[in-house]
Amino acid sequence: MSDDAKNRITLFDTTLRDGEQAPGFSMSSEEKLLMAGSLRDLGVDVIEAGFAAASKDDAQAIHRIAREIDGPTICSLSRATSDDILCAAKALKPARKSRIHIFLGTSPIHRTAKLNMSCSQVLAAIERSVKLAAEQCMEVEFSAEDAIRTERAFLVEALECAAKAGARILNVPDTVGYTTPDEIHDLFSFLIANVRGAEQAIFSTHCHDDLGMAVANSIAAVRAGARQVEGAINGIGERAGNCALEEIMMIFATREDVLKAKTNADTTKIHAASQMLCKITGNPVPRNKAIVGRNAFAHEAGIHQHGVLNDRRTYEIMTPEAIGLPGNALILGKHSGKHALAARAKELGCEIAENELSKVFSAFKTLADEVGEVADAQLIDLIFGETGTNSQVWQLKRVEMRAAHGSSIEPFARVELEHPARGLVTDIATGEGPIHAAFNAVQHITGITAKVEELTINHVGTRGRTDCISDIVLNIENESFAGRSRTRDVIPAGVESYVDAINRAIARQGRDEFGQLTRQQSVA
Ligand code: KIV
Ligand code: ZN
Repeated sequence: MSDDAKNRITLFDTTLRDGEQAPGFSMSSEEKLLMAGSLRDLGVDVIEAGFAAASKDDAQAIHRIAREIDGPTICSLSRATSDDILCAAKALKPARKSRIHIFLGTSPIHRTAKLNMSCSQVLAAIERSVKLAAEQCMEVEFSAEDAIRTERAFLVEALECAAKAGARILNVPDTVGYTTPDEIHDLFSFLIANVRGAEQAIFSTHCHDDLGMAVANSIAAVRAGARQVEGAINGIGERAGNCALEEIMMIFATREDVLKAKTNADTTKIHAASQMLCKITGNPVPRNKAIVGRNAFAHEAGIHQHGVLNDRRTYEIMTPEAIGLPGNALILGKHSGKHALAARAKELGCEIAENELSKVFSAFKTLADEVGEVADAQLIDLIFGETGTNSQVWQLKRVEMRAAHGSSIEPFARVELEHPARGLVTDIATGEGPIHAAFNAVQHITGITAKVEELTINHVGTRGRTDCISDIVLNIENESFAGRSRTRDVIPAGVESYVDAINRAIARQGRDEFGQLTRQQSVA
């Protein structure tokens, strides 16, 4: 085997099985198919598409993925019974590359409390089931469930038995998320040295995150010789979740120098896959989540922003582009410095003259103390206010809405915006709902047609008061513009974030007070 092949780590993705079986993460077969497409684009080697015998839906989803997703090996989980194995084989039939993944508890607590089986009964079941699966499918993986709490001597026997019966992949799961990096390193070293047939097998690690060590434990297992890592996107999975596969991908991409191994992942597809999963399951990732959290590439502290503006490598060990993000986000807040303020102002098309910077910066600090994060529209407003420049921005002055539940009256909204050139402008519009009606009114006033791509409103409590933060993304003539607002109530927050995004479009695309493009005219 070449060094390259020896040092290649197989990525086994179980987002659609272990991930999906966690409460709050269930997916329809349509959604699973969509997600499987993202996983293929991401370059995972194996997609565990479900547990065929668990339900008709699961079997159907596996069958569709096996038929429609080309590239990765498609796998189904199976208990060590012939019914389960035949069901998995049937669901996997159309796959170009297929794997049956058999699991059976080997630890004392699983043998006695769950299976009521003796050690020899467990070994007999492993032998029987792996042999049957090997006749049905291209590849068999065997998992000694709760391997970490299994007696070492019996674990060696169980894995030897599986390898002899035809399992090419031997998985050693930390089912309950109990192990530590040193312990799992020691265990894998021991197993690889003591299991007969280990040379022909691929040892695999599958860690849960109950103590927050799933990723560290998986890396420790690789350092001891494991060549397959199992995990799920965004770290979803039973209880505290599985090892986060996007973290594994970026660890190998970033620290190949120490790990001396690589994966086949196309890391530039990470952001898209993570977002797809959030959308499908309705579960966002925490802001500070490694790799895929909103803050993972954001910088707020002034010293950090200054460094990043000079050379991103001062505070970034990975580029946002490496995970498929267009650029880093400098969050403007009370920790931001003059450099970041000037850079953002320039980006927004309202460069601050050298002699005005101190004045604008001091007004900015006062505002940031009050609101936390300063939205772009607020910043533009502030710059124009401080420098006396004629502003091109709209400001929300008033919004009223009406939506009577169970009534036939169409929801409507009355919105009043102010513009330095046009003064106060009011519009009344209808819509599918009151907020939609308010968005329509803003479109009428500003003359800009926009499609809402994303809208999230979070209720946050800081410094003894609660606020609503609304984040919106608008599509305006095939360009995306983000908007943000923080107010005391949901309704103005939503509408103000919409106006904020419109203002960004005006600044970036160069539009006048009626929404007409002016930049093109001046170029001509
Ligand atoms: O955590 C676990 O042990 C599992 C097995 C089925 C591999 O998910
Ligand atoms: Zn698991």
